[in-house]
Amino acid sequence: MSSKKIDGKAIGQEIREELKEQVASLVKQGYQPGLAVILVGENPASQTYVKNKEKSSIEAGMKSELIKLPDTVSEEDLLKEVEKLNQDDSIDGILVQLPLPKHIDENKVIRAISPEKDVDGFHPMNVGKMLIGQQTFLPCTPYGIMQLLERSGVEIAGKHAVIIGRSNIVGKPMGQLLLQKDATVTYCHSRTNDLKSFTKQADILIVAIGMAKFITGDYIKEGAVVIDVGMNRDENGKLCGDVDYASAEQVASAITPVPGGVGPMTITMLLKNTVESAENKLNSRTKN
Ligand code: GUN
Repeated sequence: MSSKKIDGKAIGQEIREELKEQVASLVKQGYQPGLAVILVGENPASQTYVKNKEKSSIEAGMKSELIKLPDTVSEEDLLKEVEKLNQDDSIDGILVQLPLPKHIDENKVIRAISPEKDVDGFHPMNVGKMLIGQQTFLPCTPYGIMQLLERSGVEIAGKHAVIIGRSNIVGKPMGQLLLQKDATVTYCHSRTNDLKSFTKQADILIVAIGMAKFITGDYIKEGAVVIDVGMNRDENGKLCGDVDYASAEQVASAITPVPGGVGPMTITMLLKNTVESAENKLNSRTKN
């Protein structure tokens, strides 16, 4: 079986075109949506992500503000920066790039972000809203994966979705979003016994474990849809996912490549959340 490649680059581009029009319409009404990103320290992966976020928001026609702080910054000073952005009326979305240095309490920083500007969807209030199916900002990676599935015509209701990985950023919210679309959801993780016995049952397999090419074709049921959230370097230093694409594509009916699958969707959904935040703000003003 040869599988269909799910093209995140193309689907992301399609959504960005839609966003560009929405931003242009807001600008015409006299308002430019703004995204602020706080980067603490010099982590090279974080620097790359942040640069991409800045570039993409500018391309979409939005205002972009980057606040760089040294990794020696105190928790108190970081919280002050967040509070300044909470009060800044030209900023609709605030993102604090994770991970943060060890001396800073990540949860405390996330809780300090105004839920109305929490375009990462990490604030406990927004996580709670997501869990009970209320309208809120959805975390960007799982939100992007839902768009990939829906825009590729993958049926979700009644299907068995197996998620490997249980992080707060990807695995946990991913299962909830699939559940809301009536999938039967199984969570697997590093302590799961006999992982293959679960993955072999998956109609939709989401892999977010951070281990290069770990999931090979023999873990996959014939005809399954495979979503690879991994971003690793292989033995030759080449970018690769958590799934061994060459063997998986022999078995899967559809699969995301790395790069060009989930990656481009994450930033796209961040922009979408920021535009939504701006629209929420403007709508609440016209109502008041
Ligand atoms: N670090 C890795 N992924 C993310 C993300 O989606 N948001 C933030 N803020 N930091 C991250």
